[in-house]
Amino acid sequence: MGQIAMDKTAFLIRLETIENLPTLPIIVQQIQRLIASPSSNMGQIAAVITKDQAIASRVIRLINSAFYGMGGKVTSIQQAIVLLGLNTVKNLVTGVSVVKMFEDAGVASIFDRQKFWMHTFACALGSRAIAREIHAAEPEDFFLAGLLHDIGILVLDQFFHGEFIGVLQCAVGDKTDYTKAEQNILGITHQEIGEYVAQKWKIPELLVHSIRHHHNPATTDSACAGSIVAIAAVHVADIAAFNRGLDLGYKNGVKPYHTAAMRSIGISESRVNELFDGVEKEVKTVAAEWGV
Ligand SMILES: [Fe+2]
Ligand SMILES: [Fe+2]
Repeated sequence: MGQIAMDKTAFLIRLETIENLPTLPIIVQQIQRLIASPSSNMGQIAAVITKDQAIASRVIRLINSAFYGMGGKVTSIQQAIVLLGLNTVKNLVTGVSVVKMFEDAGVASIFDRQKFWMHTFACALGSRAIAREIHAAEPEDFFLAGLLHDIGILVLDQFFHGEFIGVLQCAVGDKTDYTKAEQNILGITHQEIGEYVAQKWKIPELLVHSIRHHHNPATTDSACAGSIVAIAAVHVADIAAFNRGLDLGYKNGVKPYHTAAMRSIGISESRVNELFDGVEKEVKTVAAEWGV
């Protein structure tokens, strides 16, 4: 490709020096802090969210959409917390903040942001469907993990656009696997870039771990013990979306599910397929409701 391969350390240094790297709105961290504090109450948390009107109104709109089925009944964040629970509202605030951060169309290129969001929402819905199927404690955490899993790709598109296009050309033209093309050209993968950003944002570990390991669910260490099922669900949903053409536009063939991930979620491939029939039906509507 005529490009000089970089190494990971050099890339991370470049990442560190980006001055306008997106930051999560301050409310996300404030909510996390309040939730962790035993002396805080729901009213305080609702007040913090309501202070950011742009985020709060989007969250309320979303809750009233068919997605959460509240049909226009919810008019305040406080009410949303009562009806849907603190965790769901917190996740919605985080998800809405991230989508908002990257909602500009980006530079027109072979990278299609619309396709990116379709893939991302398919993965979010699929991860949540798997979580519900296996009765995981917090299916909304799985939704958010799916929504954020490829966030490193948006960072690449926004801040390393020229090199990112080189990676895509390599993946499409030379039929190199996309992550291999990243490794060859950048010396780093979107999982590692995503992990870096997610750690900077101080979002929960489960999200950081599924961003980092969604392509290699078997390479986790003991620090990821609590995230294994979420990583596996995101992995399976990612592959299922990819294989159904809900990919980023550089699909080369059909990818198998990692056996370790299938073991972790403990449901059959045919059941995953059934779940994804549902995902495929609702993905367009849900992405539109989220504003992408
Ligand atoms: Fe990925
Ligand atoms: Fe993906």
